[in-house]
Amino acid sequence: MEADVKAMKYSSRKEYFLLSFEYDEKDKVEPGQFFRLKTPTGPYIARPYSVYDFEDGVLTFLIKSGGEFEEHLKTSKKIIFDGPLGNAIPSLDNPLLIAGGVGYAPLHFYAKRNKSHLIVGSKDEELFNLVDIPPASVYTVEPTTALDVAKHSPTTNIIACGPIKMLSRAKEMFRDRNLFLILEEKMACGRGMCEGCAVMTSDGVKFVCKDGPTFSAKEVNLNWRN
Ligand SMILES: Cc1cc2nc3c(=O)[nH]c(=O)nc-3n(C[C@H](O)[C@H](O)[C@H](O)COP(=O)(O)OP(=O)(O)OC[C@H]3O[C@@H](n4cnc5c(N)ncnc54)[C@H](O)[C@@H]3O)c2cc1C
Ligand code: FES
Repeated sequence: MEADVKAMKYSSRKEYFLLSFEYDEKDKVEPGQFFRLKTPTGPYIARPYSVYDFEDGVLTFLIKSGGEFEEHLKTSKKIIFDGPLGNAIPSLDNPLLIAGGVGYAPLHFYAKRNKSHLIVGSKDEELFNLVDIPPASVYTVEPTTALDVAKHSPTTNIIACGPIKMLSRAKEMFRDRNLFLILEEKMACGRGMCEGCAVMTSDGVKFVCKDGPTFSAKEVNLNWRN
C-alpha cells in the first residue's frame, strides 16, 4: 500500500525523526507490531519499524537517522508500507516497561494504551527533545541507564526493548522474573518465508517477524549468532 508522508519531525541534532502517515483505522494495530517501510525509489528491501503511535488514523514511527531509508525519504513524499506484521506484546498484569534508545517505539505505544509504568534511557537528551513521555513514565540519560533505574523494582512482569547488550543484561538481571524481550533482526519478507530473521529458542528455530518480535527471555537464546 502507498500513502503520502503526513509529517516528518526531527530531533534537534537530527539523530532521530518521527514519520507519520494516514492509515485506514478499520485495520487493528497493536503495540509490538511493526510495518515494513520503503519509498517508491528504495531501499530495495523495505525496512521494519515498530509502531510508535497510532491515533486518529495516523500511524507514527520513531526512526534513527542516517540510513538508506531516510536518504530516500528526503526526496520522496510517498511511503510504500506493508503491515501490521508480527504479534502484539502479550497482555500482562501491571508490567514494568524498560526501553533503550529507539527501542522506546513499541513500548511508548504500549504505555500509552495501557497506562503502564515505563522507564526509558538514552545516551543523552537528544531523543527526549523529540518524543513524548506518557504519564507514569520516567526517562534517564547516561551514565544512568534504564536498567540502573529498574534494577530495584520488585515487579514480576517486565518487557524490555533496546540494543542487544541491554537485553542480555536485562536477561541476567531479571532471571527470576517473567521477562519478555522485543527483538530486532535484519528482515526481508516479514512473513516467515525467507528465514532471514531466524533466532534460536528452547523450542527450536523461530522467526522474529512471524513468531515475535516479542519473546519470553527464558525461551530465547541471545548468543546463538556468536
Ligand atoms: C521488528 C523490528 C522493529 C524495528 N523498529 C525500529 C524502530 O522503531 N526504529 C528504528 O530506528 N529502527 C527499528 N528497527 C531497526 C531498523 O529496521 C533497521 O535499523 C533498519 O535496517 C535500518 O535501515 P536503514 O535503511 O535506515 O539503514 P541502513 O544503513 O540502510 O541499513 C543498515 C545496514 O543493514 C543492511 N540491511 C538492512 N536490511 C537488510 C536486510 N533485510 N538484509 C540484509 N542487510 C540489510 C543495510 O545494507 C545496511 O548495511 C526495527 C527492526 C525490527 C526487526
Ligand atoms: S523476514 Fe523473512 S522470515 Fe522473517
